[in-house]
Amino acid sequence: MMEKIFRAPILNPIDANTWRFYQDGALGIDRGIIVRMGDFATVLNQVDADVEVDELDGVIVPGFVDVHLHWVQHRVKGRFSGELLTWLQGHIWPEEARYVDTDLAQSAATRFYSDVLRAGTVMGMSYSSPHADATQIALALMRGDWVIGNVLMAIHAPSTLTDYSLHDPDALHAFMRQMNMTNYALTPRFAPNLSAASLKALGQIAAEAPCLIQTHLAESNAELQWVKELFPDAAHYTEVYDRAGLLTPRTILGHCIEMRDEEWRCLRARGSWVAHCPTSNEALGNRRMPLEQVRAYNIPFALASDIGGGPSHSMLHVMQRFLGVHREAGVSVAPQEALYRSTKAGAECMGRGSIGGDLTAGKRADFVLLPQKPAADSVEAWFEECLSGKSADLEQRTLGTWLKGERAA
Ligand code: GUN
Ligand code: ZN
Repeated sequence: MMEKIFRAPILNPIDANTWRFYQDGALGIDRGIIVRMGDFATVLNQVDADVEVDELDGVIVPGFVDVHLHWVQHRVKGRFSGELLTWLQGHIWPEEARYVDTDLAQSAATRFYSDVLRAGTVMGMSYSSPHADATQIALALMRGDWVIGNVLMAIHAPSTLTDYSLHDPDALHAFMRQMNMTNYALTPRFAPNLSAASLKALGQIAAEAPCLIQTHLAESNAELQWVKELFPDAAHYTEVYDRAGLLTPRTILGHCIEMRDEEWRCLRARGSWVAHCPTSNEALGNRRMPLEQVRAYNIPFALASDIGGGPSHSMLHVMQRFLGVHREAGVSVAPQEALYRSTKAGAECMGRGSIGGDLTAGKRADFVLLPQKPAADSVEAWFEECLSGKSADLEQRTLGTWLKGERAA
């Protein structure tokens, strides 16, 4: 008898408008995989009488998915702010250059995984520094399920980064041959760091390699101006990536704020995903991502912390500000959507919709325990209460995190 049952209230996301709550729920797990989920009484009827039952004091939700962050900025998250390009040049690139030191990379990666697991994040997509060693360290020390890429940056950045970037197609090919494509993302940093020819070469690699592709798009006005100067014959920023063949259903684009209608149409046509980073956009003084447009064009998206642009790795904090920034602009958003965009949508974005992201049978038993729901509260009111408070509190709010059915934090 391998199966084990966790008994607790369960909240499972269904879609952007719907979740399902089980007041007395049960999660049956066998060898790390969910084999049944539902009302405790129903589930108990399906199993042998001697099955082990573990009662948890809290509410079970799926582990969180963070589809855009920079693990090499974790140490300095929240420490600096300011306009995107000066922030990058003045604070972020000097920090990333330090990851040439493999001892620093080891200790920072260990700390990163322990912090995100403590905050309930079990899956995500991560930008590394340009260094091959730091990237391999982040892959080797991985806890949870991550997709990681060494940032590719050839120009318009200090040589302390460009000298180590494997942007040359031959060098990149050789490196990628050693990588497991399940956990590797082709990661051009953003258009200003690569020439049109380099981007095109990456597009060719992307067409052949079965990996995810991640980059930044239209995050700030200054960035947009710079791209216009560097690529004067492109109709818009999105076209710079599209011409290179980098926009695919496996592509995840961070931010997407300063976008024209044609650009949304292009993303829709290519089936690419948006990583929406509300806390980072606020911290760096960028505008609100136009959620109304994303909805109107039916663009798939998931939520992300974008640390170190975002001040916290807590997806509860990201959910809080997702609801906050759009409501403050008069756009209606529900807590159901906050949970869905931080779990199931993230897994789908990463091509892992059949593996994780929610608590249905057949998926990996990666879950989080949230504080108990008072009987008198509605599920909506209780969930929004779970999102309230300062980011430092939210980083500690989850009561525990389980990976493949085993307690991990
Ligand atoms: N654009 C290019 N690089 C970065 C980065 O590291 N963070 C953010 N927020 N935007 C970027
Ligand atoms: Zn980013």
